[in-house]
Amino acid sequence: MTEMLFNPFDPAFRADPYPFYERLRTTDPVHVSAFGFTVLTRYDDVARTLRGNEFARDIEAHVADRPDDPRRARRERQRQRVDEGLVAKSILNLDPPDHTRLRRLVSLAFTPTAIERLRPRVQQLVDDALDRAAERGSMELVEELAFPVPFQVISDLLALPTDGSEQIREWSQTLTASLEPTADDATLDATEVAAGHMGAYLGEVIEHRRHHLGEDLLSALIQAEEEGDRLSPAELLSFVILLYVAGHETTVNLIGNGTLALLRNPDEMRRWAADPSLDVRALDELLRFDGPVQQTVRVPMIDVGYQAIDGSEVVVPKGTLVMTVLGAASHDPAVFEKPEELHLDRANANRHLGFAAGVHYCLGASLAKLEAGVAITSLIRRFPQVALAGDPTWRDRLTIRGVDHLPLALR
Ligand code: HEM
Repeated sequence: MTEMLFNPFDPAFRADPYPFYERLRTTDPVHVSAFGFTVLTRYDDVARTLRGNEFARDIEAHVADRPDDPRRARRERQRQRVDEGLVAKSILNLDPPDHTRLRRLVSLAFTPTAIERLRPRVQQLVDDALDRAAERGSMELVEELAFPVPFQVISDLLALPTDGSEQIREWSQTLTASLEPTADDATLDATEVAAGHMGAYLGEVIEHRRHHLGEDLLSALIQAEEEGDRLSPAELLSFVILLYVAGHETTVNLIGNGTLALLRNPDEMRRWAADPSLDVRALDELLRFDGPVQQTVRVPMIDVGYQAIDGSEVVVPKGTLVMTVLGAASHDPAVFEKPEELHLDRANANRHLGFAAGVHYCLGASLAKLEAGVAITSLIRRFPQVALAGDPTWRDRLTIRGVDHLPLALR
């Protein structure tokens, strides 16, 4: 019975997870799943887990591997490579104080001013894409706008070449499959191969840039230094891979999912098109309503108690995996009134957990909002009659949720 509650392989779950989240939240909000991890769906539990010092993000260091866990040998290999200094853990997989040090260093280069400076470029890329589509009167949103804009922007930011984008996109997509909590062995093999290709490619670019510094973010990261502290070559590579992948695997889905949500709520779409004062809050509401990152994981470093639905305490043992379902938390009626409705002026939309919370709060949040804001508002203001021209299809992923095909008629 409990196994039925959380089954991410169910196609209905993939197509629309929110009713499943609701059932979990109302019947078993601290759900011990058949997959070996605890699934949290209440806002307060998720927020507390993301913010709490007693929870680690460094899974490799803290998870007590089950003997039958297909990731066990892989984790061991990875630990060895890190110990030997061959690779560095990504910032996303570090805990304080190592995380604090790295986050401070990269934040020196990844500043709000550096991001805001990109606005005219983003606008130009979006306008060019819309110009091309206007001539035809139609557009496949993902291929023509939602993917190419963030891809070009992250490439610009790091001053990376954009030729070979198909290959790079394929590596990125393969790589992010490692975020799937239920990934099988073959998938994990493929993610390691893709990571190897991506690492070799970006490693060469970084080496070249060391000798040809410019005004770009990559050059700034190479030079980032505080009190004699610098990113090691392995840390830099691992951070650039993360930035690059995050730069084009997430924002694409905010533009895609967000546009679809608006098309399904045309009154809200028209209201936003006519009222620029909604620009900031509307993006938060889109992130709350159907965000690109649906879940992330933590490992408690001590036994941790959560309240079950009957008021009793469920103890989650230290060293076990906890899945914090961000999408479920952002639909918890205890925090968001009528959570299944899209209200672009929702007063507390910015409490959504789509960018997580705590020390790992998304570093690229303002970049993602800038890109998605320009893309969506330009689309709906230039083409007020924009409409769906076919059925959207969804990518078959649990962690990163996004439409992969969204055909639009523009007039
Ligand atoms: C709408 C788009 C995006 C969403 C929904 C999103 C979501 C997230 C989430 C949920 C986390 C935290 C994961 C965790 O705590 O386990 C995160 C971390 C991160 N994101 Fe994003 N992200 C987006 C776009 C971006 C972009 C465009 C970049 C950079 C180019 C970026 C860079 C990062 C980095 C570097 C971290 C790690 C921060 C740390 O560990 O301190 N993200 N993101």
